[in-house]
This record gives sequence, structure tokens and C-alpha cells, in this order.
Amino acid sequence: MREIAVIHGPNLNLLGSREPTLYGHTSLQDMNQSLVKLADSMSLKLRLFQSNAEHELVDFIHGCADGVDAVIINPAAFTHTSVAIRDALLAVDLPFIEVHLSNVAAREPFRQQSYFSDKAVATISGMGAEGYLAALRFWATYTF
Ligand code: DQA
Repeated sequence: MREIAVIHGPNLNLLGSREPTLYGHTSLQDMNQSLVKLADSMSLKLRLFQSNAEHELVDFIHGCADGVDAVIINPAAFTHTSVAIRDALLAVDLPFIEVHLSNVAAREPFRQQSYFSDKAVATISGMGAEGYLAALRFWATYTF
């Protein structure tokens, strides 16, 4: 059975109440539940993780070397700052999809810089929670 890691970066624990016009009204718990339901229907195993701490995200990614086939990551604010998380993904050599709830290309100039996009298999930005589900469907049929 394929195992997919879904990694949520800082402040995403506040989804649903955090700037809902940008990030929607769906909580992280509800989003994860939809992911689990879809994963079950496609016979995928999920490893879910959220942290506000860069080192915890790095450690979790290291652990993915053991058993995970592919990653879906919303690095959130770390998208624009974290060489450490980028390096962790490259170190474990797992294919990943970068997801953003909002359309970062239509926002502030500092959000136009991503430390992940040039290494991602794909980047999904602006589709809200649906972006994670689309990424999961993609990994279900991907040829490794
Ligand atoms: C985000 C976009 C980032 O710029 C921001 O810092 C976030 C969320 C998104 O999902 O749209 O925290 O990654």
C-alpha cells in the first residue's frame, strides 16, 4: 500500500478561524478528515503532521525516509524562508507536491519567492482545501 505524508506548516492549526477570506472556513481537522476519507477510498495510507516549529518539520521529514512514498506539503510561511525544510526534503529524496490554500502569486511580493517550487513535482496554489485532495489523487496514480 502506498503511503503519503501530508505536512502542514506554521499557523495552519488555526485554519477555519485564521483569515477565512484567504484560507477558507474549513478547520485543519476537517481537512485532514476529508483526506483520510479520500485516501481510504483509493487504498492509500496517510501520515499526517502539523507543526509551528521548523525543527519539528525537519525531523518529521527525516522520519518519512522510513516507509513514505511521496509527500504533500504546505510549508506555509516557511515556503518563503526555509532552506532547512527544503534541504530535508532533498535529503530524503522523496517526490513532493507543494500546496497553498491561497493563490500566493496574487499576494505580497515576498510570497512570490518559494524555496520549494523548483524541486516540487508540482505546485498547487489557490484551490483551497481542494488542492490537497487533488494532490492526493495525483499520487494515487503516479508512476514512481
Ligand atoms: C500559505 C501561503 C503562505 O504565504 C502563508 O504564509 C501561509 C499559508 C497558503 O496556504 O496559502 O501561512 O502557504
